[in-house]
Amino acid sequence: MKLKILVGSMTHTADHVAQAIQMECADLASPIEVQWMDGLDIHVFDAEKATDAIFLMCISTYGAGDVPDNAQMLYQSLDAQARYLGHVRYGVIALGDSMGHAETFGFGGKRFDERLQDLGAQRIGDICCLDSSDGTLPDAKGAQWCRAWLKAALP
Ligand SMILES: Cc1cc2nc3c(=O)[nH]c(=O)nc-3n(C[C@H](O)[C@H](O)[C@H](O)COP(=O)(O)O)c2cc1C
Repeated sequence: MKLKILVGSMTHTADHVAQAIQMECADLASPIEVQWMDGLDIHVFDAEKATDAIFLMCISTYGAGDVPDNAQMLYQSLDAQARYLGHVRYGVIALGDSMGHAETFGFGGKRFDERLQDLGAQRIGDICCLDSSDGTLPDAKGAQWCRAWLKAALP
């Protein structure tokens, strides 16, 4: 089973998490592709690309609970080009800062999750929230969560 990690990020923390997953989870999924969301739209979820694949949205939060700039086009296309995504299985890693932004903690990932669910996509497991203010290393914590998530998600 292929794992496609789609990265929404401004200052690379989410990318570091994705790269850690690529290294730490290679025995559980193959290949593991890491792709920044820049230039993507809803077609990234087309049925032929989702065959034998599971998606992981790894995404931070900016503004007042917005998705990062490089994720805007994909996020907006989930509205503008809305279509049924019942064939899509996905997980979410939502990065944020609960101390600095308590009201909108992890909203970038949560917004994607809501929209994907509206379109019929199937989330596997709970959202993994990585908090930059809790003193843990997001890449280590994300990779550890992903190992357990993959074991539950894979056939
Ligand atoms: C200008 C700015 C706005 C932010 N807004 C939010 C927010 O609304 N909610 C939240 O949970 N985190 C917010 N954050 C925190 C980031 O999402 C967090 O630091 C994250 O780890 C950054 O990941 P990245 O380096 O992959 O972009 C904000 C950070 C900055 C610098």
